[in-house]
Amino acid sequence: MFVWNHGKLVFRGFFYRFILLNCRVSSNTLPIMKITYLGHSSLSIETKDKTLLIDPFISGNELAKDIDINKLQADYILITHAHQDHILDVEAIAKRTEATVISNFEIVTYFGNKGIKGHPMNHGGKWEFDFGTVHYTNAIHSSSFPDGSYGGQAGGFVIETSHHRLYIAGDTALTYDMKLIPKVYGLLDLAILPIGDTFTMGINEAIKASKFLECNKILGYHFDTFGEIKIDHKKAINKFAKVKKELILLPIGDNIKL
Ligand code: NI
Ligand code: MN
Repeated sequence: MFVWNHGKLVFRGFFYRFILLNCRVSSNTLPIMKITYLGHSSLSIETKDKTLLIDPFISGNELAKDIDINKLQADYILITHAHQDHILDVEAIAKRTEATVISNFEIVTYFGNKGIKGHPMNHGGKWEFDFGTVHYTNAIHSSSFPDGSYGGQAGGFVIETSHHRLYIAGDTALTYDMKLIPKVYGLLDLAILPIGDTFTMGINEAIKASKFLECNKILGYHFDTFGEIKIDHKKAINKFAKVKKELILLPIGDNIKL
């Protein structure tokens, strides 16, 4: 209970303190999802006991020279599409870590031919993995391998764990299909959207996308790596803030926790 003491409201009573303490303890034990930005569209996502790597393109990114691909952990590697700036380090990391590739059928087959295990998906489908459920979502983009071979259709992912739901758009234009995501899968804790323009959505479209997605917390990616996708960080953050949305731009190697 609260009592007045020397003009201050003071909390008294063992029973109430006991309840308060227990509430705090239980909320502290909720699993945390840690998302580390590895540059371009590359992310490391740590769930309760698994590590997911997204679109590893690190050794070819001068801006990510401080990230050592030989030190990255991965139980799974999720690939949105076959372009080089999304798959460059898949083979090296998958062979070292024995990670399972999760992507569309064509990409999983391509890496399967190199002896890498995978779980194939296609648009609209989901699968329950040991870390949570993955849905393979629509994207509007092309998807050929660096050697010109067919990489299926580009996609994105909704990842659901016991306590978190996030959307990784992949390389995509703004699409009306994004409206379906919160309606079909439920509200998101975070949307990860490309914002570099030229090859994907730019800032204005990403703001519209975050409205379609009914999500106020956006992690931007696919910017600054090449001249064509350089952005003004301050301007971008302010534009989102104007419509009461938070755009997070992480320095490479930094993380956020959900
Ligand atoms: Ni691409
Ligand atoms: Mn790309």
